[in-house]
Amino acid sequence: MNSCKKSFILLYILSIGISTSYAQQQSIPQKVQALLNKMTLAEKIGQLNQYNGDWEATGPVSTDVGNKLDAVKRGEVGSILNIVGVKHTRVFQEAAMKSRLKIPLLFGQDVIHGYSVTFPIPLAEAASWDMAAIEKSARIAATEAAAGGVHWTFAPMVDIARDPRWGRVMEGAGEDPYLGSLIATARVHGFQGKGLGNLDAVMACAKHFTAYGAAIGGRDYNSVDMSIRTLWEIYLPPFKAALDAGAATFMNSFNDLNGTPATANHYLQQNILKDKWGFKGFVVSDWGSIGEMINHGYVNDNYEAAEAAINAGNDMDMESRSYINNLAKLVAYKKVSVTRIDEAVGRILTKKFELRLFDDPYRFCNAEREKRVLNTPEHVEAARDIARKSIVLLKNEHQVLPLSKNLNTIALIGPLVKSKKEMKGFWAQNVGNEDEVVSLYEGMQQAAGKTKLLYAKGCDITDTSRTDFNEAYKTAMQADVIVMAMGERFDMTGEAKSRSNIHLPGVQEELIKAVVASGKPVIVLLMAGRPMVFNWTADHAPAILYTWWLGNQAGNAIADVLYGKYNPAAKLPITFPRAEGQIPIYYNHLNTGRPAKSDTDVFYTSAYTDLPNSPRFAFGYGLSYTTFKYSNLHLSKKSMLKSEDVTVSFDLQNTGKYAGEEVAQFYLRDLVSQPLRPVKELKGFEKVMLQPGETKSVSFTIDKEKLAFYNDELERITQPGTFRLMIGGASDNIQLQDDFELTN
Ligand code: BGC
Repeated sequence: MNSCKKSFILLYILSIGISTSYAQQQSIPQKVQALLNKMTLAEKIGQLNQYNGDWEATGPVSTDVGNKLDAVKRGEVGSILNIVGVKHTRVFQEAAMKSRLKIPLLFGQDVIHGYSVTFPIPLAEAASWDMAAIEKSARIAATEAAAGGVHWTFAPMVDIARDPRWGRVMEGAGEDPYLGSLIATARVHGFQGKGLGNLDAVMACAKHFTAYGAAIGGRDYNSVDMSIRTLWEIYLPPFKAALDAGAATFMNSFNDLNGTPATANHYLQQNILKDKWGFKGFVVSDWGSIGEMINHGYVNDNYEAAEAAINAGNDMDMESRSYINNLAKLVAYKKVSVTRIDEAVGRILTKKFELRLFDDPYRFCNAEREKRVLNTPEHVEAARDIARKSIVLLKNEHQVLPLSKNLNTIALIGPLVKSKKEMKGFWAQNVGNEDEVVSLYEGMQQAAGKTKLLYAKGCDITDTSRTDFNEAYKTAMQADVIVMAMGERFDMTGEAKSRSNIHLPGVQEELIKAVVASGKPVIVLLMAGRPMVFNWTADHAPAILYTWWLGNQAGNAIADVLYGKYNPAAKLPITFPRAEGQIPIYYNHLNTGRPAKSDTDVFYTSAYTDLPNSPRFAFGYGLSYTTFKYSNLHLSKKSMLKSEDVTVSFDLQNTGKYAGEEVAQFYLRDLVSQPLRPVKELKGFEKVMLQPGETKSVSFTIDKEKLAFYNDELERITQPGTFRLMIGGASDNIQLQDDFELTN
């Protein structure tokens, strides 16, 4: 080889080396730009297009797309939802690797409360008021989902919900913006773990942006009409918290907000989310929500729908095909700029780089890891723990609970005693095996020791036949104690599962009456995705546990609570009404000019004449097997300047026989203000573990932010004046209170 040829080869090798290491050293924005430079407009539009995998549909299915694998190979798809399992995701990723630029696909899935191991529904977990446990539940769900090929969960749902008729109330954290924001943070941290790029982290998606939970009449997908101040005050804070926690994506919502569909809402997606809040991730539409703007009557066709959505800040089109079919034309006719397309694509590519899919598109497709990580004993144990923490003790007359281990016979009665599907609840994944779910019956078999268990179904969940009541009564008569498992079918609460009647379904409450007539101690377990109405039971059953839908470990967790192996500490994250007619009912309402002084004060007051004014169970309510005493309230000062803090401290004592935890809640009220402030707002809480007789000092700090609110101009302000602080074990059980002044 002559020296000239040698030096050419050397130079060539060096240049490859330089360009490879240059590529490696490039920042993600540089890599994104380099890739964008290579992409055709059609390839860019492909990245904005998301299809359902046709495996399982979580919305109305379109069939006009031909073979999806071929579409992926042509570079027409950026993401697929509803495909799980490394075997299946690999097939699609292989197709993406046959496209011209080999841009990896993103696989999205509704991992709402667990992947292989099902955890309690989110509303149940919210009742734990335990951020570490909630974060851990999301962490495990993400670890399992990522091992199963998923890159992206469509969770957390952070919609505030004040209406239990709305079926999706089960997916969120309830009615309170403060609690909801902390839970949003915990869930995002849990899903995203130590950060995207780790093999156990999935992208979180804060949804549904926004105000979806305020659907008029609680009817899913319905319009939302609210003041912008309420939007900022109540509905936006959990989204902001999710963003601050680093949520990689946002999903918009099906509803219109004050006449503009959220999907085409420039104010929400562009002005607030991207401009004011500086969101760097991408926004995906909800399923078909771009196309549904035709039904809304907002646009004439998918062409106009695509234009409205993309120009309002919606980056990816889930399943409406409006982008893939129209964006090229819209660019040609200058209705949509290439800059806007590049910006949307850039946001999506950035996440693909952060997930390190360009380094290895199959890094989430490892069959060995999938087998090893799913359903481990540690995950199962964590599911049992958070399930126990989610159970709310609503009533416990004469200390019927906890059960003694020395009972001769327990009768298990009700349509949900042996149910597994109901334990998993709505939005459970089809990944695990139903055998892994522990029914109440199985949990009790494990826990009951020498106690004999009898069983009678008594009635169906919704069927109105009373034929089996007699057998249930006879079974009850043979037992020392009766445990009844009552509630909703798994598909009675969830998406598109709004109900105008939220009473305990079918003839179940009649069965409870029949069994209570036995005169034996009856413990009623209520298993549901939402608050239900059950007044007779609330008045007459000696003990009630609200167990929601608790996931795979339901039976074990309930048995732990029934036997006192775990002392319940959960508190309601949402108000339980006495009747549907009270809805919407929530604790942080305004006082009105004619507030009722009591439940029976109806003389020209803001009240219903045909039922008490108070809810059946208030926000923050929940009992324990032990009792707590609040005392010695102390304020570090009685007046503060805006630049100062006040420390509030008090003693909390366990005055009962059992070790237990209390969620001590701290509320504030601005007594005189313009505009008006609610009668109470949660501003802090602490879950405190106390041994019998033990006392701990608890403190909260009041700073300017805790006293601030939005005025009509949406400025965050404070107003000098008197504030009332209230401390107690529920929003309607204030034990300590005092006033202090803000002086400037
Ligand atoms: C729901 C979303 C969900 C999506 C994908 C929609 O119907 O509103 O919350 O993420 O389907 O399954």
